[in-house]
Amino acid sequence: MKIEAISQLFADVEAGAVVVLGFESGDMASVDSATAGWGTEVSQSGEFCAKLLDMAILHRPQGLKAKRLVLAGAGDPAKFGSPQLRKLTGTIVRNLKKLSIPSVTLFLDGALATPEMAQAAAEGALLGNWEATIHKSDKTGIHFLESFTIASSVDLSRAVQRGAILGEAQNFARDLINEPGNLLTPMVLAAKAQAMAAASGLECDVLDRERMAQLGMGSLLGVSQGSLEPPALIVIRYKPENPQSADHLALVGKGVTFDTGGVSIKPADGMEKMKYDMAGGAAVIGAMQALAKLKPPVAVTAYIPAVENMCSHNAQRPGDIVTSMSGKTIEVLNTDAEGRLILVDAIEYARTQGVTHMVDAATLTGAVVVALGHVHVGAFTNNDALLSRVMKSAKAQGEKMWHMPLDDEYKDYLKSPFADLGNIGGRWGGSCTAAYFIKEFTGGTPWVHLDIAGTAWLDEKAPNMPKGPTGVCVRTFVDLAMNW
Ligand code: BES
Ligand code: ZN
Ligand code: ZN
Repeated sequence: MKIEAISQLFADVEAGAVVVLGFESGDMASVDSATAGWGTEVSQSGEFCAKLLDMAILHRPQGLKAKRLVLAGAGDPAKFGSPQLRKLTGTIVRNLKKLSIPSVTLFLDGALATPEMAQAAAEGALLGNWEATIHKSDKTGIHFLESFTIASSVDLSRAVQRGAILGEAQNFARDLINEPGNLLTPMVLAAKAQAMAAASGLECDVLDRERMAQLGMGSLLGVSQGSLEPPALIVIRYKPENPQSADHLALVGKGVTFDTGGVSIKPADGMEKMKYDMAGGAAVIGAMQALAKLKPPVAVTAYIPAVENMCSHNAQRPGDIVTSMSGKTIEVLNTDAEGRLILVDAIEYARTQGVTHMVDAATLTGAVVVALGHVHVGAFTNNDALLSRVMKSAKAQGEKMWHMPLDDEYKDYLKSPFADLGNIGGRWGGSCTAAYFIKEFTGGTPWVHLDIAGTAWLDEKAPNMPKGPTGVCVRTFVDLAMNW
């Protein structure tokens, strides 16, 4: 989709639809003057109440060159910020493309004409235009918007460009997540990361099984041994031309391309969704694509341990003891708790490469969904200062995250009589014990863990997004690096 900013008079815009926002209790003067009083008429009739995501369409508006005028509800002005606008433009795009309208222009003026708003509007539009229809052979009835334009008296072009970079990166992550396990194996994910890196001017190394064995990554390799698909540790490097500090940020993403649970096999019902168990890895890859274009002042390296968790004659067994790269031994009490097993070897590797700060994203536990539903990402840390930077970026980007506890009492849950620690902590506090397990391998390096099991996938379509992958964390990661 073409996306751009223009400065043009309302009446002169030629588009399938021009969109203006209407607030609850706001006056309709500007709409009325362009539409011979239609704004007041439609709101008094009760057809348009200006609630957030409400919409009314006027065809052939007199005095305008556009084919339609769309009044989009922005709700309470006191509650309207960039997260609401992002959701609103996504909803507008989804509603209008269904009507086969090819081009939409949104007007942002007055207090709305800020870079933050323009960026969010562009992101929302791109996210709303994404569909999970790539594998459908019959594309009739599936429409995409061809262009989305933001018109304003203020020059918003740089913000719109930034929004486009972010929206495209998040959609790239969603494309990766949407691919099924048979088509997106660890090696295919690695090839896609390499292609992105080559096109973006980033370095990318893929560590294969032999290299990982030399490095002693017994924890990661134990998970992968049951699959015919070889594992990959994908490393993508961004180096700034003029670094502003000696810091080196690691973004680590869980890349389980399919999670059957292994010998501790998952129930059949819903197992097909476990293709999204690489959503953390995809978010990291998407963020790197955006960072290559936006060029933050800090070094950022992505680490994506990619494996398939299968059950087979060669799969690891419950009770197996593996030795991680850090030297710690782990009793694998449940082969379905595999995410933490691959992450700790990736984290140890990142630490040996001299990273100073680490943030991981992982579809790690069903327990985080029990705790926070599909609303918040669960955020855990060994360093409150780093967490507050992550939370600030998340808030700015409209991604909800909740600080979860990581007290030392959780350590007791992970005791094993036969190894340094077990990979599960029993029935209670599952997302906390999973996070604590990872913390044991961070060696004091500032680290934030984001459990995205509840937020990486939409089970039901939303007004601004179809059912399927959300691409959560891409925007937070990019914002974090850009504001380092
Ligand atoms: N990939 C799953 C977690 C998950 C669950 C992601 C639901 C998305 C939606 C993870 O590997 C897993 O299976 N975790 C187990 C851990 C348990 C065995 C301690 C879980 O949450 O049940
Ligand atoms: Zn699992
Ligand atoms: Zn998993």
